[in-house]
Amino acid sequence: MDTSNSYPAPAVVLSVGGSLLNDGKPNAEMAAKLAGVMKQAGLPLAAVCGGGKQARKRAESARKKTGSEFMADMAGIKITHKNAEALRSALGPEAGAKIFKDFKPAQKAVGKQKYIVMGGTIPGITTDADSALLAEALGAKRLVNLSNTAIYDSDPRENPNAKKFDVMSYSELIALANKSDQRKAGTHFVFDMLACSLIARSRIETHFVDGRDLGQVRAAIMGEKHSGTIVRE
Ligand code: UTP
Repeated sequence: MDTSNSYPAPAVVLSVGGSLLNDGKPNAEMAAKLAGVMKQAGLPLAAVCGGGKQARKRAESARKKTGSEFMADMAGIKITHKNAEALRSALGPEAGAKIFKDFKPAQKAVGKQKYIVMGGTIPGITTDADSALLAEALGAKRLVNLSNTAIYDSDPRENPNAKKFDVMSYSELIALANKSDQRKAGTHFVFDMLACSLIARSRIETHFVDGRDLGQVRAAIMGEKHSGTIVRE
């Protein structure tokens, strides 16, 4: 049977925050739940997996051992690949035989498999940026960022009056990311600056939802109403 080019290119890319998939080691239960939601959607999908707690730990020990930020990032990337492998394996044969560590091979897999699963790529960036780049590479017009929060005008953990954005523009997102970047070292905005610029230049509509709420995840994938934040024109 000729199965070449039997799947359309994924129109939606998921950016799966590492904290969902790894709380010290890859969380197979969460990977299975997420794979279930992806399958239920019935669409070809791409996903980029983050590193989570284990990536931060490994990066820190590589940094101590080598004094090199490059090597710290390489250690983090390795964990993103482990998490991606957990999701790929939970998705089964329609996710192909291996995860992707670069964009070109992921592009080449379009049509041949329903799901495309990636981890990190090169030092110096994050899987937020990888997911925006993958959306560009695949021509996907929607990105769904799964973390533990929507976007607020200030950090809701620090400010009980923080206001959630239901919808915001690319330039509002960039202004907020900039403001947050300058606030204090060690805190980080929900989406990094490179990723913000990439979605803005390619007009990729980006949905920020709480990845622990699988109903919200499903709604964002399907383009239905959810209680997170939508960034668009
Ligand atoms: P991420 O920072 O992207 O994963 O990758 P995460 O756990 O989803 O991130 P947070 O905690 O939600 O922000 C983990 C680490 O792997 C390296 C970086 O060091 C990054 O902090 N990495 C990842 C790269 O160097 N390049 C990549 O392409 C991806």
